[in-house]
Amino acid sequence: MKGVVLAGGLATRLRPLTWVTNKHLLPVYNKPMIYYPLEMMRQAGMKEALLITSGDHVGDFANLLKSGDEFDMRLYYAIQHNPTGGIADAMKLAEEFSHHEPLLVILGDNIFKFDLKKSVERFTAQLEKETRGAMVFGVRRDTEARQYGVIEMDGEGKVLSIEEKPEKPKSDIAQTGVYLYDHRVFDFVRTLTPSARGQLEVTDLNNMYLKEKSLMCEVIDWWVDAGTSHDELLAANMQVAERVKQGLL
Ligand code: G1P
Repeated sequence: MKGVVLAGGLATRLRPLTWVTNKHLLPVYNKPMIYYPLEMMRQAGMKEALLITSGDHVGDFANLLKSGDEFDMRLYYAIQHNPTGGIADAMKLAEEFSHHEPLLVILGDNIFKFDLKKSVERFTAQLEKETRGAMVFGVRRDTEARQYGVIEMDGEGKVLSIEEKPEKPKSDIAQTGVYLYDHRVFDFVRTLTPSARGQLEVTDLNNMYLKEKSLMCEVIDWWVDAGTSHDELLAANMQVAERVKQGLL
């Protein structure tokens, strides 16, 4: 399995913090934001990860992260020319790198902590048995679920529906930015068309797996989407500081 970390975008919602830098380089307590998803890549057992970002900031990421030794990984870099194309559009850049292996994709502004290695092992075992599938990770978010993709699932972890930012959410489970895909993911991505907001949506991609009944979901306890607003960034800083002091992160 190969890792992909998405660290592109314009982060207009975080201006003026992001006029001259990339949001994933902003501090979250005692580390740059990008460290958190990379640490989870390592925890998940990835040996190689591709970081996808804009040409403007790729040099800063390379100066900071170098070849990935600090994370016991080999890091590669890809440059995204279209910062507003969406998650699935950025993923296209990982096709050659993936070498037909399954993929772990993490959005670079997602901070969370759980045993991702175990989930990767479960997913790999499922792939060996059923040869196809994808997995998403959800978090319970009472009233705010509608700001995200919303996942409806059955008692066995099978996904029944996912809707992107629905007006009337069918559940309180928000879709996080952590995804596991089989090697066919790029064939699915190629068939996507832009959504109303002009993006190739990860939710549309996940719905293709849902259609063939091979999409699973695991619910995790703690997750912050640090890059969506000044308030979320502040909350991420406070929650991470608290967890580091309690030895939970
Ligand atoms: C994207 C996904 C959404 C998911 C969210 C998690 O939303 O489209 O389904 O819940 O990431 O961070 P966006 O940040 O592009 O609005």
